[in-house]
This record gives sequence, C-alpha cells and structure tokens, in this order.
Amino acid sequence: MQGFGREVILGVGGGIAAYKSCDLLRRLRDLGFGVTVVPTPSSLNFVGSATWEALSGRKVTTEVFESVEEVRHISLAKNSNFIIIAPATADLMARIAAGRADDLLTNVILASNSPVLIVPAMHPEMWNDEATKTNVATLRSRGYHVMDPDTGALTSGDVGQGRFPETSRILGEFAEITGSRSDLLGKKVLITAGGTREAIDPVRFIGNQSSGKQGYAVARSAQRRGAQVTLISANSNLADIEGIRTIKVESASQMLSALDAEFTHTDILVMSAAVADARPKQIADAKIKKNEFTNIALVENPDILRTISAKKSRQVIVGFAAETSENLETAQAKMVSKGADILYLNDISGGDIFNSETTHGFILVRGKEPKKVAETTKDTLAHQLLDEALLQLG
Ligand code: CTP
Repeated sequence: MQGFGREVILGVGGGIAAYKSCDLLRRLRDLGFGVTVVPTPSSLNFVGSATWEALSGRKVTTEVFESVEEVRHISLAKNSNFIIIAPATADLMARIAAGRADDLLTNVILASNSPVLIVPAMHPEMWNDEATKTNVATLRSRGYHVMDPDTGALTSGDVGQGRFPETSRILGEFAEITGSRSDLLGKKVLITAGGTREAIDPVRFIGNQSSGKQGYAVARSAQRRGAQVTLISANSNLADIEGIRTIKVESASQMLSALDAEFTHTDILVMSAAVADARPKQIADAKIKKNEFTNIALVENPDILRTISAKKSRQVIVGFAAETSENLETAQAKMVSKGADILYLNDISGGDIFNSETTHGFILVRGKEPKKVAETTKDTLAHQLLDEALLQLG
C-alpha cells in the first residue's frame, strides 16, 4: 500500500475504558477513516460486538478461528495502514511484548508492519508495576507508540496515573505519528498531471517530458488530508493511486473535455499538467512515410487553464509555470491572465527538472508577496500548495 491510507484497525482490550473507545471510533469515522474493530474476547464483557458492528458498519470477530476461510488476521494486517489499541490493558501489553498470538488482535499485530499506537488504561498500581514498566519499555524500543495514561480519578475511586486519555489527545497523537491532517475532508480536489500528446499519425506525436510526479504528489497529499480526489492523468507512467478516481487522457482537447465535465463540482483545481501549446493541423490516418515527413502544419491548442477559469465560481485554481527565478513578474502576469488564484513558479534555472524528486521555486498568491520554496520534495510542495488553496477557499 502506497503512503498513508485511511484504513485503521481499532484493537480493544478488556478494560472498563472500552466504552470510551466508542467515541474514538466515531471521531475516526467522522474524520474519514475506515475502521475495523478487533476486540479481545475479554473486552466483550464491557462492550459487545453488536455495538462495534453498529458503530463501525463492519463485521467484528475476535478469534482466529472465526471466518477462517478469509485468513482474517493476514488480510486485516495487509489491508490496514494503522493500528490503534485503546484501551490497552496490562495483560494485553504483556502479550504483545512477548510476541503471543492467542487471539485475533495479537495475531494481527504480529502479522502487520503498520505503525501501532497503544493507549494504556489501568489502575495506577498496575501501570507502575515493574513488569508493566518493563513491557512498556520493550514495546517502545520496538517502535510501538505507547502513550502515557492521564492522571486523575479512576473507576475504583482511587486517584493516580492510569486514566484513559481524552479522545482529542489520542487523535492528536495519531495525527502526529501519521502526519495525517483531515482539513480537506468534504472537499473535492481536481488535479491534472503528466504531459499531453498530440498525434501526428498513428505512431508519432508531439509530446513533452513531464513525468506527472508533481500532480500525483498533490493527488496523494490531498487524499491523505481527506479530500475526494479526481486525477486527470495524461500519459504518465506512474502507478494509479488506490482510492483516487483517475481519468486517463492523451491530448489537450481530451483534457479540456474531461476538466469541463468535472470542474463545476470541484472546490480546488490544481493544473499541474504540461499542456502542448500546439497540435498538428491534421492527424494522418496512416503512418507518414519518411520521405514525406518534412514539415508539420500546427494549430494552437486552447489554453485550458484560461478556458476553465472563465467558468469559475467558488473554485480556487492553482496553476504552474516553468520559468527562471528572474521571471517573477512574468509569472505574476501569467497567473492573472490565466485566471489562477495561486501559481507555482517552478524555477528551472538549475536545469534537471523533469522526473526529479525535488523542486524549488516560488509560490505566488494574488495580493501577497511571493513565497520562496527552497529545494524540497514534491510531496512537501503539494502540501504547501494545498495549505494556500485551503486558505483561499476560506
Ligand atoms: N496551460 C494550459 N493550457 C495550455 C498551456 C498551459 O492550461 N495550452 C497551463 C499549464 O497547465 C500551467 C500553466 O498553464 O498550469 C502555465 O503553463 P506555461 O506552459 O508556463 O504557460 P504558457 O501559456 O505555455 O506560456 P509560455 O509562453 O510562457 O510558455
């Protein structure tokens, strides 16, 4: 699975705080995560499967010997991006630390390579016991994120460290570990990527070197932040991104038609495709013989960005321009003339821009000072552009 997706396993241990995990589950679903609950058998004494099934909308099993035909511990481990264990009892942490696999949850944990956030909740005496301390240290040394429980009144009437943390603290920790933000939840983001090809004859075309990496990075980042993403991809060799609706196009006119159909229900358009400025006046039906292949009559392609931005209502539009850094003013004028709200000036003065993993340049926003982007990954730039677009969207 590529990057961080939105599939979470919520493991529930057998403690009274299990009921508080119901709220955690609901909040995760509100944030756009798909959640599969895997309770330990003893936790069903506190919250039953029916509650978890109703709240998650998914089947709930606790033992490896249920739904054996699915090899469920392996399929759950493979298809999830993150595991949260809340609450984690002293016994559950001891079993994980020992590498035990005596119920479905511990099997899944052993079989998975996803990050695991453990949220302990227990009586202070148990939390402070040397055995628990050693288990927590072992788990942390293996890369598990073990939260410290809150301090306060406990169900037993005692006061001390052992309380299940507030849902907001757990979600804050989760967001920090995953780098996941959900500020684009409910937003529709439309992205063009790659380079258009304009056919000359059945075998030849006018094209460009665009790899599509920047557009795909924006698509991935927007998806991670909860957006509903549509990607219009022109001739990129990059693999489809799971969960992203991808429309494949070849030429500028196909890209324009696809955009036209999508634009009205979009909140943010990111126009990162390299569009061929011209196309052959005629496409030959048969391969042109080399002795006849002397010149190609061209006609100008429509400026897609300008054409689409004329239909703009609430949408925020992000354009791109490949220029050298001295051309800030040209880029500024390009942003305005093309009707974009934001424009990334990709500084090509250093050469070597195509297929590169990194980028540098300037983010231009109408009415603001240009913001310099020092050499950074295309993913980071994607997030910066989405941050700016979200600000503009208000
Ligand atoms: N673009 C477009 N349609 C075109 C050409 C470009 O929509 N026919 C978009 C690109 O996707 C990009 C922006 O316009 O977001 C800037 O492209 P660029 O090639 O820098 O601009 P041009 O209009 O081709 O200007 P120049 O004369 O500087 O090449």
